[in-house]
Amino acid sequence: MDPLLAGASPHSRGVALIGSGSAQAAQVISNNQLGLRVDTSDEWIQSRTGISTRRVSSPDQRLSDLAADAGRSALAMAGWSPKSLDLVLLATSTPDDLFGTAPAVQAALGATNAVAFDLTAACSGFLFSLVTAAQFLRTGSMRRALVIGADQLSRFVDWDDRRSCVLFGDGAGAVAIEAADEDGLLGFLLRSDGSRGGVLNLPALDSNEVLAADARHRQGGYRPIEMNGQEVYKFAIREVPAVLQCLLERCAVGAESLDWLLLHQANQRILDAVADRFAIPRPKVLSNLAHYGNTSAATIPLVLDEAVRDGRVRSGHLLASSGFGAGLSWGAALFRWQGPA
Ligand code: COA
Repeated sequence: MDPLLAGASPHSRGVALIGSGSAQAAQVISNNQLGLRVDTSDEWIQSRTGISTRRVSSPDQRLSDLAADAGRSALAMAGWSPKSLDLVLLATSTPDDLFGTAPAVQAALGATNAVAFDLTAACSGFLFSLVTAAQFLRTGSMRRALVIGADQLSRFVDWDDRRSCVLFGDGAGAVAIEAADEDGLLGFLLRSDGSRGGVLNLPALDSNEVLAADARHRQGGYRPIEMNGQEVYKFAIREVPAVLQCLLERCAVGAESLDWLLLHQANQRILDAVADRFAIPRPKVLSNLAHYGNTSAATIPLVLDEAVRDGRVRSGHLLASSGFGAGLSWGAALFRWQGPA
């Protein structure tokens, strides 16, 4: 059905975030298990990252399964029929199909009236997708959107590289958003700097194959994740506070007014450093790094959903969020949670 006919007010200029969901990869992998494969230890990983276990998908668990499960649970919280969705936006760097996995998720959900597409911005993907979806709602061209962040970096991690394999895991999270008169998305800032992108990559293979007598081609495929950890760390602790500061100033909101700091979950030391810059007490910093590690586009909706379901994040709470990662890409959003009380 045309969303405008379905009731979206062409005059709605706001966005309400009203449902969340998440889904977990099947297997739990402990630091000690990784220590049996590479030269590392539980003590090293916990003290440098805050991670003690991560979840890894089983070979039969597709990205679309995780994404659809997370989406279904966000729809249930919002109380929406899948058919009422106008948009399914899937943030991922690890689609099942490079042509796009969002349509498979749309089909699995039965969201037959929704357009569905992927958006790739690595660990900033969820935040970028939330803002992108919000634009459709603000113009009045759509009424309801499901924004999903899902990744299976386990498929691209070099499990023999101790410098990176300890950091990552798989997962999915989703948020249901709706056009509203009162705006729950108070502001956002998005940033990219491709000139610094070489510090974190999941690059295409450099192949050079014979195609025909006088022609060659590059065969598709990817190398495992390559990362300069120290440079990524420096990038995060410089740019995340800067973009958050800029956003808070623009919105005329003081850090003391925030109920929660909702950062991309990459490293507990990054979370702590950003919180300290704003004198935000630790209990207001959402973290589930210990159990999931870095699930890329999934981290923000995954930790949000946990906190909504256990009653920490409540309707009316104000959250400052920041995503950051490969690209380089980063950004921030300030929003009020308006889910069920
Ligand atoms: N176990 C044990 N030792 C390890 C190790 C591991 N898993 N990984 C690296 N080391 C070793 C290094 O080889 C190095 O040894 P050396 O001094 O003998 O050469 C030593 O530990 C210190 O390495 P360094 O890279 O300086 O560690 P660090 O304190 O910078 O921590 C990271 C490494 C990866 C935890 C940290 O840089 C980080 O979190 N960076 C951000 C990464 C990130 O978040 N990426 C995703 C962004 S979206």
